[in-house]
Amino acid sequence: MKEELNILIQAQYPLIYLVSHEEERAEQEIARIAQAKTQHKRVFVWTVTHGIVEYGQPRHTTQHNTVSPEAAVEWVIRQREAGIYIFKDLHPFIDSPATTRWLRDAIANFKGSEKIIVVMSPIQQIPIELEKEVVVIDYALPNLQELNQVLTQQLEKTKTRRTTTEAREKLLKAALGLTRDEAEKVYRKAYVKSKRLTENEVEIVLSEKKQLIRRNGILEYIEEDETINSIGGLEELKRWLKQRSNAFTERAREYGLPQPKGMLILGVPGCGKSLIAKTTSRLWSLPILRLDMGRVYDGSMVGRSEANLRNALKTAESISPTILFIDELDKAFAGSTGSADSDGGTSSRIFGSFLTWMQEKTSPVFVMATANRVERLPGEFLRKGRFDEIFFVDLPTKEERQDIFKIHLAKRRSDVSRFDIEQLANVSDGFSGAEIEQAIIAAMYEAFAQDREFTQLDIIAAIKSTLPLSRTMTEQVTALRDWARQRARPASSSVAEYQRLEF
Ligand SMILES: Nc1ncnc2c1ncn2[C@@H]1O[C@H](COP(=O)(O)OP(=O)(O)OP(=O)(O)O)[C@@H](O)[C@H]1O
Ligand SMILES: [Mg+2]
Repeated sequence: MKEELNILIQAQYPLIYLVSHEEERAEQEIARIAQAKTQHKRVFVWTVTHGIVEYGQPRHTTQHNTVSPEAAVEWVIRQREAGIYIFKDLHPFIDSPATTRWLRDAIANFKGSEKIIVVMSPIQQIPIELEKEVVVIDYALPNLQELNQVLTQQLEKTKTRRTTTEAREKLLKAALGLTRDEAEKVYRKAYVKSKRLTENEVEIVLSEKKQLIRRNGILEYIEEDETINSIGGLEELKRWLKQRSNAFTERAREYGLPQPKGMLILGVPGCGKSLIAKTTSRLWSLPILRLDMGRVYDGSMVGRSEANLRNALKTAESISPTILFIDELDKAFAGSTGSADSDGGTSSRIFGSFLTWMQEKTSPVFVMATANRVERLPGEFLRKGRFDEIFFVDLPTKEERQDIFKIHLAKRRSDVSRFDIEQLANVSDGFSGAEIEQAIIAAMYEAFAQDREFTQLDIIAAIKSTLPLSRTMTEQVTALRDWARQRARPASSSVAEYQRLEF
């Protein structure tokens, strides 16, 4: 990213839009580029509070009458010397007709004059008039090397005894995904808490990071206690996942394997899609972040949603290797098919950025998406190569239902042998895993209210009084099955057999 900024400045791009939460860091970087031998440009900074001040100079040296954005751009146009003019937080003003116009004039005027305007802001907001003239760059979060500087400073400041290389490495990795300021704060806090910075403080850094990520509200760290063994059936899907347990290790790279990109799990509601996605975190020993697409959308300002998505993806990348879990993908992108204009095209733009990111990402972020309404899913997702595999999770077969009963009964009682599992599986034909679990819970409530232990008969009664989704929504379920049989890989081996017979 730094490289990109350097190239753009050297290539004399007149208008650069830098999306970043880290003003100071970005500003220093620009100043560094400007002072390089080949450049020798002066750097000026505009803020709405002080107008234009030369970088590194005290505030009172402000250029006369440059507080208003229009006046400031006009001032820049009048300058003869080469220079880089940073406009901080111009976004609330950039949409005003006068500012937009002045910026366009500036671009026209800059040709051959070695002047560059850099708009620096945490969100991307560009009026249509400028869309074609501006280059946008995302200022990436600090990498390990930069974090190392932060950590070194902190260690020096606190005169902490030398930390081992290993501890240092762990402390650095734990802070990946934070801005420079945040990392500094987190290290300081960890130090204040335990008066040292060693391997033991890694936990503090990690938990602080979780809180910071939670605060941004779009990504969420998930902690799932269940393991893949608490899922009944879905043998094919499990095998696929188990086979890839070490897919993100150095060893796999050396072996010549590509990094897995992601998977899509389609299927009937309540059959364990979300659960299996969440348990993959433990299976692979990777953190899992849930991307809440509903929160990505923000109608308050044009460009806000895109910026939200970009930030979230950037954070996920900086934490990688990681799993990015997008539950109910169909809901998230429903608006991007068909009549997309209802929201001014935001959802199709978001969808476009997401696809591009999936296509181009090189960092080890494994996308795990689930969906149950295929007809609402944009076709682009289903094209070969987007995901490594698309699995279809069907209603459980009889054997799978037996597994599911065993798992959920064992979770609640130690003496599972008193139940006739086969009979339970027989009477629950057409039930999903979630419905089986609910039947057991209903049976327990019934018995609990009568102050006795629940029995086989209680469960059967609960099953009989439940109308499963597969019967209330037969058409949808059938349609989904027909669709998926041709395009997706079955998650259960028994279904695979069935499918082979059919073709
Ligand atoms: N195969 C299964 N084995 C064990 N438990 C299951 C299974 N399928 C579902 N369950 C139970 O049902 C609950 C709900 O399942 P889950 O949320 O994973 O379904 P889903 O397929 O994501 O449904 P939806 O499409 O409605 O989001 C699980 O937390 C689990 O307790
Ligand atoms: Mg789900």
